[in-house]
Amino acid sequence: MGKTGYDLKEFQIKSRKKNISEKAKDFYEHCSILDEKGNLNFFREIVSPQDRITKIYDKRTKSVKDMLMFGSNNYLNLATHPKVFESIIRDVKKYGPGIGGPPVLNGYTKLHRNLEDKLSDIKKSESTLLYSSGYSANFAIPETLNTRGDVFIYDQLSHASLIDGLNKSSGSQQKFLHNSTLDLQRQIDKLDGQYKDLFIGVEGIYSMDGDSSPLDKIVEISKKNKAILVLDDAHGLGTVGQTGKGTAEMYNVEGDIDLTIGTFSKSMAMAGGFISGSKELINYFRYFSRPYFFSATIPTLTVSGVLAGLEILEAEPERISKLKNNVNYAYSLLKHFDVVCVPESGILSILIPTHVDITNLNRELHEKGIFVNTIDYPAVPLDKQRIRISFMTNHKKSDIETLAEIITELIS
Ligand SMILES: Cc1ncc(COP(=O)(O)O)c(C=O)c1O
Repeated sequence: MGKTGYDLKEFQIKSRKKNISEKAKDFYEHCSILDEKGNLNFFREIVSPQDRITKIYDKRTKSVKDMLMFGSNNYLNLATHPKVFESIIRDVKKYGPGIGGPPVLNGYTKLHRNLEDKLSDIKKSESTLLYSSGYSANFAIPETLNTRGDVFIYDQLSHASLIDGLNKSSGSQQKFLHNSTLDLQRQIDKLDGQYKDLFIGVEGIYSMDGDSSPLDKIVEISKKNKAILVLDDAHGLGTVGQTGKGTAEMYNVEGDIDLTIGTFSKSMAMAGGFISGSKELINYFRYFSRPYFFSATIPTLTVSGVLAGLEILEAEPERISKLKNNVNYAYSLLKHFDVVCVPESGILSILIPTHVDITNLNRELHEKGIFVNTIDYPAVPLDKQRIRISFMTNHKKSDIETLAEIITELIS
């Protein structure tokens, strides 16, 4: 293995014929060798709340290090907001931390209902149900709805959770070229109406590139073809739209989306997910969606934190413009690199040529006190490795200048 990183593709090819004990042993040894080389890429130990400066335990120096955090989805800095802490402490005292079982058996609290109603308002939908993760919510859509005789057409850059749900479904699936409404329409035309239900799946903000879906045009196509439009707006909530309600607000198509998936692991800085849609569809999911029916109710402490986070978003909309200003400033300093697209939310991605060892690059960034996400296969195709930089409202101009200086020094 030439690279110092976790070269998963090569590993998968080499281990194809091995049984699981051999595969696991090989991989364990491979990881141990990499760790000896001081790889800090994965599973970094965080010892403070996520903030512009986050404390990380550095395995190599065996000490705690202050790092400039540019790798967190805590876009709005809710992870340190006192009202989130107050809300969680108050509600945990009243309701306990969680339910400890699935809603259908063990129930809900009033807070869960309040959060569902709040999200329905935000997404201009009739109803909402909560999942234990965004992954489960996104997986659940095709797994539950795409049945024999149906066709699910989705953008080629869709998240793995959708693809996994599709692979579990009995309907057919096809992907269209990223953000190409032309290709989408062409594929629909080719089907010539030969389906029971047609689903169109897009993301509001694409998680690896940071661009948005042309949602107004997608809505048009969806309506024209009587399709059911599924929007994964994981990265849109809190980052886009005038009041942070997401990509539908940004494109002025609120109320035109059949099913919206969201997550609490991005701007809400916690974990959990939801689906919003018509009361009939959401009720159907309550009984027929296996990741909902057979999984425990999302913890009450999460629900409380998210409710507080949504209140803050409403009361302090200036957080969204601060985030935008930070991303725009970073783009002005970094645009001479191979930036994937002009960023439209809190994410900026820079492509790194394949001959560069991205794990090494991340270690160098780490050593210089910069925490970013380096992304390679299988999250992106082999030739699309990148640094993915995420911004927060409270980054200072000087933080962004430091980031740009270090990136320039390391990848010019
Ligand atoms: C676009 C998109 N959808 C779904 C998910 C899954 O969400 P979660 O991490 O909350 O399970 C993610 C998370 O990375 C995402 O980026």
